[in-house]
Amino acid sequence: MSRTVFLNGDFVKEEEAKISIFDRGFLFADGVYEVTSVMQGKLLDFDGHMNRLERSLNELDFTYIVDREEMRQIHKKLVKANGIDDGLIYLQISRGAADRSFKYPDESVKPTVVMFTQTRDSMKPADPEKGIRVISVDDLRWGRRDIKSVQLLYPSMAKMAASRAGADDAFLVEDGHVTEGTSNNAFIVTPCGTLVTRQLSADILHGITRAAVLRCAKELQMKIDERPFTIEEAQGAAEAFITSASNYVMPVIEIDGKKINQGQPGPVAIRLRDVYLEESLKTAI
Ligand code: PDD
Repeated sequence: MSRTVFLNGDFVKEEEAKISIFDRGFLFADGVYEVTSVMQGKLLDFDGHMNRLERSLNELDFTYIVDREEMRQIHKKLVKANGIDDGLIYLQISRGAADRSFKYPDESVKPTVVMFTQTRDSMKPADPEKGIRVISVDDLRWGRRDIKSVQLLYPSMAKMAASRAGADDAFLVEDGHVTEGTSNNAFIVTPCGTLVTRQLSADILHGITRAAVLRCAKELQMKIDERPFTIEEAQGAAEAFITSASNYVMPVIEIDGKKINQGQPGPVAIRLRDVYLEESLKTAI
């Protein structure tokens, strides 16, 4: 079925949405994006995503001003027009179309704003009751992973390496420590029950789900340690899991062939997933 998508102020059928071959998103990966989850037809943590979008735009000197109310209306309209009950909305803003040049074009060039929906089924999500298997690969991405830029070739290569190895995803490793997953944040639960995830810095994306899950863990009075961990520590952990808007909280049951929690989703991950979903729905719009 042909979706209704949003392109630069218009709602059009996906076949009719065309952008210039000179778009800097296409030529330079000069663009940022957000992925907002839709559950029961409602947007999860919309403000969190808009905050991060503004931050990414600022870090890259975009002059585009995010009109939050307008963005909310467009998101809601796309959900309705495409009958999305369970899925997500992809939003991308690139610096726009200009003759190819490494320097940014002047401000008369308008950014390209694109939004479209995806149903969760079409993304073939992993089953949280089974969990996922990950491999480790070197983190060879650029040094500003806190910016949600559309430069996603390396994460794509890492995901393909995982797939070729018969796994579902990859943990990226730099200087002997896990930074994050290809498109998610990585957590472990130590044998004594402390929740560990890497601290915020330019090394990782500041996940909206990560922040929400940490809030839930605090409410559950769990011990939290924001610090780097190694693959060896993760392999010896009581549990491991990932967080993202597309997977929520997803248990990791194997790392580089070593089973975690005897290859079963762990109770902390399952509990945090339930609490996260319950809490997120309360503030969903
Ligand atoms: N990815 N780390 C990276 C590198 C990511 O790409 C993502 C999100 C996350 C988790 O962030 P959040 O909880 O805000 O979704 C962490 C999205 C889902 C994607 O690219 O499809």
